[in-house]
Amino acid sequence: MARIITFAQQKGGSGKTTLCAHVAVELASRGHGVALLDSDPQGSLGRWFMTRFERDSGLKGDITFSTSSAWGVSYEASKYKDTHDYVLIDTPPKIDSDLKPALKSSDLIVVPVTASQVDLWATEGVLEMAGREKKRPLAVLNRARAGTKLTNSVKAALSGLEAEAAEAVVANRVAYAEALGAGLGVAEMPGAGMAAAEIAALTDEILARL
Ligand SMILES: Nc1ncnc2c1ncn2[C@@H]1O[C@H](COP(=O)(O)OP(=O)(O)O)[C@@H](O)[C@H]1O
Ligand SMILES: [Mg+2]
Repeated sequence: MARIITFAQQKGGSGKTTLCAHVAVELASRGHGVALLDSDPQGSLGRWFMTRFERDSGLKGDITFSTSSAWGVSYEASKYKDTHDYVLIDTPPKIDSDLKPALKSSDLIVVPVTASQVDLWATEGVLEMAGREKKRPLAVLNRARAGTKLTNSVKAALSGLEAEAAEAVVANRVAYAEALGAGLGVAEMPGAGMAAAEIAALTDEILARL
């Protein structure tokens, strides 16, 4: 039975699409069957996937992709329940009733929080909604800059949220954006070792919670 992981956060630019794609590639590289569902009309994950698909390398077919309306995600995800190990859902940057089906059907909700106070404030909305569905999300500090005051204070504040704070921290690294632009995940991009290690650690934590 496929496990469903949803990446959600009201704030745009917090790293939903980025973490979703990199974790998907990491899972696929470990031999798991991964399906992606893009429920964001902006379609960034789909653009990444098409770039991946058009690469003339051996990447074709290792990950399944489809788009979905927000209200249709549980039905779309159920199509993969016997054929894949994980369904990863990317969501739009807003918190409204449309998000409910994705949260409801999730086995795990991952909430990226960038090292900014604004992101922390924005996080309350998704945590409240998840709480109503009796879910306790995994909050992940993204775009962290080691040793900065802001990163440290946001990291400390994460532990006070209605969420689990991931041990794994994702730093601010160009490799994350570069890889996505090339249709890749950091797990398969030469020279992206530090980023790949962060995504591997995050993936371990995700799997440990499923
Ligand atoms: N850890 C990171 N390091 C560097 N750039 C990042 C990181 N995470 C996200 N970004 C960049 O931030 C921007 C927003 O990320 P994205 O994943 O699209 O956010 P969302 O899907 O939440 O709107 C993108 O340009 C992306 O490349
Ligand atoms: Mg996005």
